[in-house]
This record gives sequence, structure tokens and C-alpha cells, in this order.
Amino acid sequence: MQRGTTRLDAMETRPVSTTHSHILSCCMHFLDRKGSTPTVSIMDVGCGNGELLRFLASVLPRLYPHLNFDFFGFDICDHGVQKVDYWNKTIERLEKASPNRDWKSKLFLVSENDPWPFSDASFDIVLSNQVLEHVRSPDFFFQQLRRILKPDGFSVNLFPLRHCTWGGHLQMPLVHWFRDFRLMRMWINLCVSLSFGKFKPTPAGSSAEARRHFVEKHADYVHFYTNYMTADELAAVTKRNGLKLSFGWSHRFVWQKLLQLAGRTLVGAYPVPGWLSVFGAFATRSVTSVTVELSRSRKYREEAGSSGGTRTLAGDLSLSGAQQHGMGK
Ligand SMILES: C[S@@+](CC[C@H](N)C(=O)[O-])C[C@H]1O[C@@H](n2cnc3c(N)ncnc32)[C@H](O)[C@@H]1O
Repeated sequence: MQRGTTRLDAMETRPVSTTHSHILSCCMHFLDRKGSTPTVSIMDVGCGNGELLRFLASVLPRLYPHLNFDFFGFDICDHGVQKVDYWNKTIERLEKASPNRDWKSKLFLVSENDPWPFSDASFDIVLSNQVLEHVRSPDFFFQQLRRILKPDGFSVNLFPLRHCTWGGHLQMPLVHWFRDFRLMRMWINLCVSLSFGKFKPTPAGSSAEARRHFVEKHADYVHFYTNYMTADELAAVTKRNGLKLSFGWSHRFVWQKLLQLAGRTLVGAYPVPGWLSVFGAFATRSVTSVTVELSRSRKYREEAGSSGGTRTLAGDLSLSGAQQHGMGK
């Protein structure tokens, strides 16, 4: 079933970012193929300001009126990439946008090293948007992702790899390629000279000092708050944690961006990725975020039981947290 642009426009719900319409189209691919389960549970990992949740909670129930959607999100309190007081604003924003949902019981703030506070195999869809380039321990992230994903569930993750030549955070090229801090600082300084980035020279006098501060602060941000993976590192860490990976829809994100430049938003279930997507993914990883689809289903030596796999210490710990929050099964 294809659901087109006009239908979304008619709903008067516009995505605030192309990433949102792209992720919606990925979810629609999954939902159009999903069996008859009446309730679909969706988790936005590293949900930040909650805009993606707000958008999906507004659009999906109208696109799929025969399904019930249960939306959840969580973020971490001690990474430092977000402003200190962002979480209350996230809850307020979502409560204002859809007051009929009990957001306080669906949104969680945890520590970076805490097991995610949800029981095993509890989500049909697990999403993350612009999160994985910040994650300090990808092994832990994917171990937890696999644990909370249902065996027939689906995960879509949009984020830039190390191969990407453009750094969206600083609006400068190549900064995250530097391992040497001093060289990185010199590179940012050069980029500022070439008018990349958001540095605004102040009136005479304070400008040189302001520039030094800007360069140091942004170098610190990239050094301490980002952790870009290569495609090989990503393939290895997802495999190690029992997940199957595909980059199949990466090129579609580029189409979405081009359409956005033309003032259009295209929403509709993406088709099964074809051969072209192999080359598309390879080409797009140098210019923008890749789309990583993950699943945990297995045919060879099929898993026993619905939660499947080996129980880990992290899994056991998180179960008690989840039961506390009413998510225990
Ligand atoms: C650039 S923001 C993106 C926020 C949101 N997903 C969005 O699209 O606006 C990156 C987010 O990743 C979160 N984050 C960083 N490391 C994380 C981790 N290990 N687990 C979950 N979230 C993490 C940060 O707290 C932050 O909210």
C-alpha cells in the first residue's frame, strides 16, 4: 500500500526535518508488511527534543487507523551533547502536541552506562536519528538495541559515518577525520577563514579572542562528543551483537533532501532495496548520513523462545527497571 504526498499534506503535519519524512517512509515499509498485530510499539533511542516522536505520533495513527501505536523514547543525562535542561522541555513539547498520550510514563532519562530501561523483546520498531555518531560505546548500544527489539522487529538508524566529508554539526568539511587535536584546531581555524561554519566576527577588538574561543570550543565538541564509525567498524560491531545490517535505503535519503530543496516532501512506503541501492549507499556515505536497517531474525539455528538468545547481565538488570516502569512482560 503506497501512501503519497498529498495525504500527508492533507493532514497538515509537516516534518521539521527531512530525516523525519525519510524515517517515516522506512517505518511504512515495515508496517505495510507486518502481520496482524494490532499494537505497534515504537522506541526512539536518543530522542532529544522529541520532534521525531511528535511527528510520528501525529502521522502514523492517521495513516494506519487499524493499528494502535505505543510511542516511547529515551535519552541519556550524562553525555553532555544536549543542554542541561533539555529533558523537561522535551516532555512539555510532546504533552502539548498530543495531550491524549501519557508521555511521562513513556519517556525515560537514563545514564549512558545504564541498561536501557525496557524488557527484552518489547519493541516492534527501534529508531535512532543522528545519535550513533555520538555513542561512546557502540557495542553496548547494539547489545541493548538487539535485546529490546522483538525477534521479528525492525530497526532503522540514520547517522553519518566517518567516511562523510561534511560535518553537519560545525557546518565544515572533514573536521572529524582528524585524530590529532592540534591539527584539528588548525583545520577549523582555516575553515573559519574560508567562511565555513557559524562563526560571526564581533566588532573590532574582541574578534581574535572570540575566534580562538570558537575554534577551541568546536574542536572540543568534535573530540569529546562525537565518535564516528567506519562502515567496517559498524558492520563488525552489529554482527558481534547478533544483528543483520543493510544500508539499502541510504540513497533514498539523498532523494528526500533533493526533493526538499525543490520544496516537496515525499512520503510513502519504500520498496525493497534493489541492486542500485548497493552503489547508492556507497556513494552517499561520503556526502551525508547513511540509513542502517537492522534486524535480529534468524533462520539458521533459529532462536528459542520469543525473547531469544542468551540472557546477559545487562538484560537482567534492565528487566527490573522495565518492570518498575510497567513495561515488563
Ligand atoms: C544530535 S542529538 C539528536 C537528537 C534527536 N535524535 C534528534 O534527531 O533531534 C544526539 C542525541 O544522542 C543522544 N545520545 C548520545 N549518546 C547516546 C547513547 N549512548 N544512548 C542513547 N542516546 C545517546 C544525546 O543525548 C542526544 O540527545
